[in-house]
Formats: sequence, structure tokens, C-alpha cells
Amino acid sequence: MAGELSPIDKAKFVAAKRAAQFVEDGMRVGLGTGSTAAWLVRCLGEMVRDDGLRIKGVPTSSRTAQLAREVGIEVISLDEAKWLDLTIDGADEFDGELNLIKGGGGALLQEKIVATASDQMVVIADIGKEVETLGAFPLPIEVIPFGWQTTQALVEETLISMDVLGRTSTLRMNGDIPFITDEGNYIMDLHLNRIGNARQLSLVINQMPGVVENGLFIDICDAVVIGFGDGRVEVRDINEGTVDRDRIDFVETDNLFSDLND
Ligand code: 5RP
Repeated sequence: MAGELSPIDKAKFVAAKRAAQFVEDGMRVGLGTGSTAAWLVRCLGEMVRDDGLRIKGVPTSSRTAQLAREVGIEVISLDEAKWLDLTIDGADEFDGELNLIKGGGGALLQEKIVATASDQMVVIADIGKEVETLGAFPLPIEVIPFGWQTTQALVEETLISMDVLGRTSTLRMNGDIPFITDEGNYIMDLHLNRIGNARQLSLVINQMPGVVENGLFIDICDAVVIGFGDGRVEVRDINEGTVDRDRIDFVETDNLFSDLND
């Protein structure tokens, strides 16, 4: 079954599988959103079922909450957990300082709240997510629906004085209607191409009325687990300054792939 996965899916899977080793018995774990994070949730579900791992999971979206319950992970709210030992999540881009763009799945607000409330944030990603400079992936920002066009105009005007290459933005759609986040907000994607000063941009965008949060994660991520299509994984820890290399075997985990055709 694993042979049917594309190289990118294999890379996502091995990153998730390796990152699951960070999870210890008794931990409160933030569960990210997206296709890579879904692998992580499946891997943790398997550890709960087969190895008796006891964890409490705080999902970062309704989608992840549903999957976590399906695979047998005990789900609690962030307010019940209060603080988390670890959050593991995907990313749309990461740079050499492990600053991130997130929100491709529209869950950036809960993702940022949960990651910030964690002792440690580990990102799981295929190697294609690594960039020298953030910004090729459109930067998602969550905006409230009220006056969103006015907010959009304000954001675009502000971008003129920012160190970015592109300045257009689009409202994310779900077919013919705006995409709605779990908090009932809209997502605007900023087509910046290159973000020269991500820290400054993040601060400026978040000062605008109408903007709830942006998808730049600055100084939040502690380590990244990078997956490759051939099963190799690389763990980079920004605090320790270490790089560990490993390899994940697909065969022994075949049962994880059995529910993917639905
Ligand atoms: C969701 C996210 C995801 O982590 C990001 O979009 C990566 O997704 P995927 O693992 O499917 O590539 O930020 O809001």
C-alpha cells in the first residue's frame, strides 16, 4: 500500500512518523492541521492503540479534532490543557531560522495559539517546504468578515512601505463563497513573492483593525523534521544547533495506509 504513495506523501509520512518519537507518555500534545499533520495524528493513534501510549491531544482545527477522535486519541480543549508539552504541526514554508509561513489549510489562528502555548513546537514537512527567504507561498491572514474589502485595501496600501516584492491579495474562496475559518472569519492570501523582513511585516499586519492574525510564525518553532521521498529524515533543532539524520521503514507501518482510499 505504501508503494502507492507519491514521493511527497512518503516524505510527509516519514517526517510525521519520526516526529511521533518526540511524544512521551502523559504528554499534552498540540495536534496540527493539514495533510502532514494528519499523518502524525494517524501515527499517534497507532501508538495509543498498539503501544498503550497515554496522551491528551489539543487539535488545531475541527478537521483534526475529528481525525484524532477517529483514531482513538483523547481530545481536550486548550483551556482544559492550559499549557502543552509539545505541538507538532505542518508548515507551508520554513527558512533557516525556522520561521514559518502557515495557514495554507486555513487554520493559522488556532495553530498559532496552540503552538505559542507549548513548551516546544516541532514542524513536520517535506523537503520542498524549505526556502531561503519566506514569501513564495502566499501569506494567509485571517480577517473578520465585517468590512473585509476595506481591510484588504488597508493591507495592500500598507504593503507599499514594506520590504516585499508583490503587493496583491485575494480572498480565499470555497467554490463560489468565501472560505470560512473555524472561528467564522475569512482568509486573505497575500501574494508577496519575497518577504524581506518577516518579523516587521508580522507586527505591522497584526496592528490593523480587521486583521485577526497572520500566518508568519516567528521564533515559535524549535525544531523541524524534514522528510524525503526515499524515507530519509532530518531533524534540525534550532536551540541545540544539532542536525540528526535517520531513515524510516515504510513496510512495518502498512496498516496506517489501509484507510486512505476513502
Ligand atoms: C494549515 C497549515 C498546514 O500546516 C500547512 O498548510 C501545511 O499543510 P500540508 O501538510 O497539507 O502541506 O498551516 O493551516
